[in-house]
Amino acid sequence: MTSTLRLLRRLAAFLILLAPLHLHSAHAQDVQQQAAACAACHPTSGAPADPLTPIIWGQNEGYLYLQLRDFKRGTRAAEKDAAMRAVTQPMTDAQMLAIAKYVSAQSWPRHSSARTPRTDPLFGHGAKLAALGACGGCHFNSWQGYSANPRLRGQSPAYLTATIEDFRSGKRANSPGMSDLLRIYSPEEVAAMVAYLSSLE
Ligand code: HEC
Ligand code: HEC
Repeated sequence: MTSTLRLLRRLAAFLILLAPLHLHSAHAQDVQQQAAACAACHPTSGAPADPLTPIIWGQNEGYLYLQLRDFKRGTRAAEKDAAMRAVTQPMTDAQMLAIAKYVSAQSWPRHSSARTPRTDPLFGHGAKLAALGACGGCHFNSWQGYSANPRLRGQSPAYLTATIEDFRSGKRANSPGMSDLLRIYSPEEVAAMVAYLSSLE
């Protein structure tokens, strides 16, 4: 509850910051101001205060744009997507493209939260499952992905767990292929893959 309240307060701050911007323009200065507002929930350094909030800085441009579009459309529609639905409602396609470009050009924040040591059997099990499951076929480039394929390396473990669950339950309905693929794994196997992927620096 308190974390929901905190999220709502940040969202209110975001909308106030956004209000004076020219909503239909995508000028460099507007994009920077908007990105500063995103940082209230997605900090540019360290791990987000709320572990269910993903790291976005340095994520791939094509992927970022598609997620903003899908939050706005409501094809990503879990309860915890309410903040992003509100954030994207007033945004135009041009603004989403511009902010995706800006966000992708920043560096991935370094953080050391909730890492599973390489010596932990869970890490090794996860590495094996991810290799056998051919996840790297699409999330290639040392798990940094490319274009519309997201980076998984070093993402928040709580976020990865939650979004995989959303794919499996269908609440995240923007990629039926990922949903089908992830449904074949048991919760224990998902936990191992998340421990591995999130612990890579
Ligand atoms: C009030 C807090 C809040 C603000 C402000 C906010 N976000 Fe988010 N964002 C979230 C949360 C929470 C999630 C996780 C939603 C989920 O689990 O599906 C998220 C998810 C995302 C994702 C999906 C990432 C992924 O790996 O799939 C993107 C992209 C994103 N936000 C971009 C932005 C951008 C760009 C801005 C500024 C224009 C912004 N966010 C502002 C809270 C916020
Ligand atoms: C055929 C290509 C393909 C394969 C194989 C694949 N993925 Fe994906 N994955 C994608 C694409 C594309 C997306 C982005 C979908 C979207 O637009 O929301 C994605 C999204 C994800 C996300 C969401 C990331 C985020 O930031 O929200 C996770 C987690 C994920 N995949 C995990 C896996 C795992 C684990 C495996 C192996 C079991 C795997 N993927 C195999 C293509 C693939």
